[in-house]
Amino acid sequence: TPLHFVTLLGSLRKGSFNAAVARALPSLAPDGVNITALGSVREFPHYDADEQAAGFPAPVLAMAEQIKAADGVIIVSPEYNYSVPGVLKNCLDWLSRLTPQPFAGKPIAIQTASQGVIGGARAQYHLRQSLVFLDAQVLNKPEVMIGQVAGKVNSETLELTDTTTRDFIAGQLKAFVAFVSHFSNNEK
Ligand code: FNR
Repeated sequence: TPLHFVTLLGSLRKGSFNAAVARALPSLAPDGVNITALGSVREFPHYDADEQAAGFPAPVLAMAEQIKAADGVIIVSPEYNYSVPGVLKNCLDWLSRLTPQPFAGKPIAIQTASQGVIGGARAQYHLRQSLVFLDAQVLNKPEVMIGQVAGKVNSETLELTDTTTRDFIAGQLKAFVAFVSHFSNNEK
């Protein structure tokens, strides 16, 4: 059976470079791998335990189902102030309150793109820290950190055009397939 990965995007911006990276993923995936986008984190209200007690919002429940059904999640996000953008953290906070918790045991790959030279490395390590508490299985390497991303995307079509970056991402997707297969073999 083909593998199905879902992408979770940490930017709301129309011209987002990270969205450009996420859109490129289906064309960079190995044969037999299907990649689709999760709903937008924009649909999530600010986390509020009172609202949770009254019932989880529908977008939270819908995303949790999509994550549970997927073989892996690829988180694609900018770095804000050396950390994870609030909208993405808010999304993880909501999902983390569900029972069962959708990230438990779930294979995750992380990709960050930024206009700085470090490519969002600091956000990746904060994100990894939260994913430890969520008991996700996060791929260690290769780490996809795309620096100076504006020069790697076509400014009119917003397509990720840089071939070195595209090849590097394709390599991570290949490694992610092997990682996911390793976990499913261990379960048997
Ligand atoms: C940034 N940016 C940024 N870049 C970076 O490399 N390290 C950082 O800590 C930050 N911090 C930061 C904070 C805030 C509030 C904003 C709005 C931006 C710049 C960031 O890399 C750039 O805006 C990207 O283009 C954002 O990604 P998207 O929206 O293009 O996907």
